Amino acid sequence: MTRDATSQRYLSELFSLDGRVAVVTGGSSGIGRAVAGALAQAGASVVVVARREAELSATVDELAADGCRAAWVSGDLSVRDGVRAAAERAVEAFGEPDILVNSAGINLRPPMGELDEEVWDATMAVNLEAPYLLGRRFGPGMAERGFGRIIHISSQQAHRAFVRSGAYGVSKGALESLARSQAEAWSPYGVTCNTLVPGFVMTPLNARLSSDPERVAALAARTMVGRNGLAEDFAGAAVFLAGRASGYVTGQAIFVDGGFSVH
Ligand SMILES: NC(=O)c1ccc[n+]([C@@H]2O[C@H](COP(=O)([O-])OP(=O)(O)OC[C@H]3O[C@@H](n4cnc5c(N)ncnc54)[C@H](OP(=O)(O)O)[C@@H]3O)[C@@H](O)[C@H]2O)c1
Repeated sequence: MTRDATSQRYLSELFSLDGRVAVVTGGSSGIGRAVAGALAQAGASVVVVARREAELSATVDELAADGCRAAWVSGDLSVRDGVRAAAERAVEAFGEPDILVNSAGINLRPPMGELDEEVWDATMAVNLEAPYLLGRRFGPGMAERGFGRIIHISSQQAHRAFVRSGAYGVSKGALESLARSQAEAWSPYGVTCNTLVPGFVMTPLNARLSSDPERVAALAARTMVGRNGLAEDFAGAAVFLAGRASGYVTGQAIFVDGGFSVH
């Protein structure tokens, strides 16, 4: 065997997602879109789930143009029936998933004193309840089949107060706890459950903050790498957590933040 073929086979054994099916919520924008692209390029058939159809279909068109297998489901993950319906429609394309990525999230930032029950409920519904319900729907099946990967996208605000963390930080703190509980339940059956923790990433979620050059520069200076995050920065970590290579990594919160959290 040539050196190239040996190296290809080795990399493929560790990281290839050939034959895997992935569901990525929030897969039509920002970090979720980059993760969906990464998993698809690594061989998985990917279903992206979000509300807006134009963004969903543009994402799938882009993946298909790259020769990837992808489908989309439009659903509202802020209501329990919406989550259940989206989950059932998501399996129609390629079957039950081996990989679940929860990237759909919202960050409403009222000052603490004005944080009403509506904002609290909306935040918990999308950021925490949807990942819990989807985990309950897909986790046991993964465990039965002996392989699964659940990846949540949390936030540095699970660990520190930052720009009015409010209900958002609470939801993300709980999401990391959920990952640990899921890991405890399903890791013995080959299902790892982990969290990727972004710092400040230039995506539509942060449109307002990202449009202030002084704040953008100040945040970049708080990292060790010297720049803010890009959605593409999550590709490698996601492929690692989705594949065979990470089989002994579970219950972890892995920071992909350019060193923001350790400065
Ligand atoms: N950007 C950052 O700096 C940063 C930092 C820390 C953590 N994060 C986390 O990373 C994840 C992705 O954020 P992002 O920056 O990539 O944000 P984004 O570009 O705004 O993407 C959010 C995605 O979630 C979907 N979504 C929102 N509400 C939904 C709902 N009710 N039902 C279904 N889908 C819904 C959106 O699509 P529709 O609007 O079409 O539904 C979109 O696809 C989030 O969980 C966020 O909290 C981001």
